[in-house]
Amino acid sequence: LRAARENGPLSGLRALVTAGPTHEPLDPVRYLANRSSGRQGYAIAQALAALGADVTLVSGPVTLAAPAAIRLVRCETAQEMQAHVMQALPCDVAVCTAAVADWRPETEASQKIKKTADMRAPALTLVPNPDILAQLCGHATARPGLVIGFAAETETVEAHAQAKRLRKGCDWLVANDVSPQTGIMGGEENEVLLITPDGTETWPRMSKQEVAAQLAERVARWWSARPA
Ligand code: CTP
Ligand code: CA
Repeated sequence: LRAARENGPLSGLRALVTAGPTHEPLDPVRYLANRSSGRQGYAIAQALAALGADVTLVSGPVTLAAPAAIRLVRCETAQEMQAHVMQALPCDVAVCTAAVADWRPETEASQKIKKTADMRAPALTLVPNPDILAQLCGHATARPGLVIGFAAETETVEAHAQAKRLRKGCDWLVANDVSPQTGIMGGEENEVLLITPDGTETWPRMSKQEVAAQLAERVARWWSARPA
């Protein structure tokens, strides 16, 4: 890794990767979250580092081990993730793989919410979380040169993903179908579409490590073609 850091195709490139879910507390023992193992994001962080990039990985709660030679910043909520991401700027490439909770409970009870005698469920009020990817894309002074978003969809994947790329303002978008029958969520493999301004590429099913390696190769092509 040290040799790659000096001579690899991504040597000199600063990368920021978000990964994992966020947990949005409701009370000291309960939270709202997305399903996410963090595997694809950790694999991308490792693949970028293997080509020599200087990588900061901002990770929500996952059970994966800290990868070698990467700056790992752990956090829990979307607001914490947002703060760590903004602190990691400037960078050349940002890859947002995190499954950020779109909403959080408006208030966090300081004590465990107890059942009541009438057994009625409490009403939850949710408020929107910050959109970290959109904020990176729209950053007035430190927009990364290449911003890559992810889209987890369960239907009409390509159309949803193309619309999402434009809505978010990211350069590339990696889309996958996470309906339960694909086995992708939480599994070892992925099957993705890479959507760029040049069009859509359909990649065959492969391991998450292989998706990460191919994406890192694409980043290296972008990096070597950058204007001096
Ligand atoms: N993302 C983010 N911050 C959020 C929500 C999403 O950074 N608060 C990023 C994800 O990391 C991913 C991309 O935005 O790279 C798309 O996330 P996704 O959940 O698929 O899209 P949303 O815009 O949240 O739309 P929806 O959930 O309604 O499909
Ligand atoms: Ca979302």
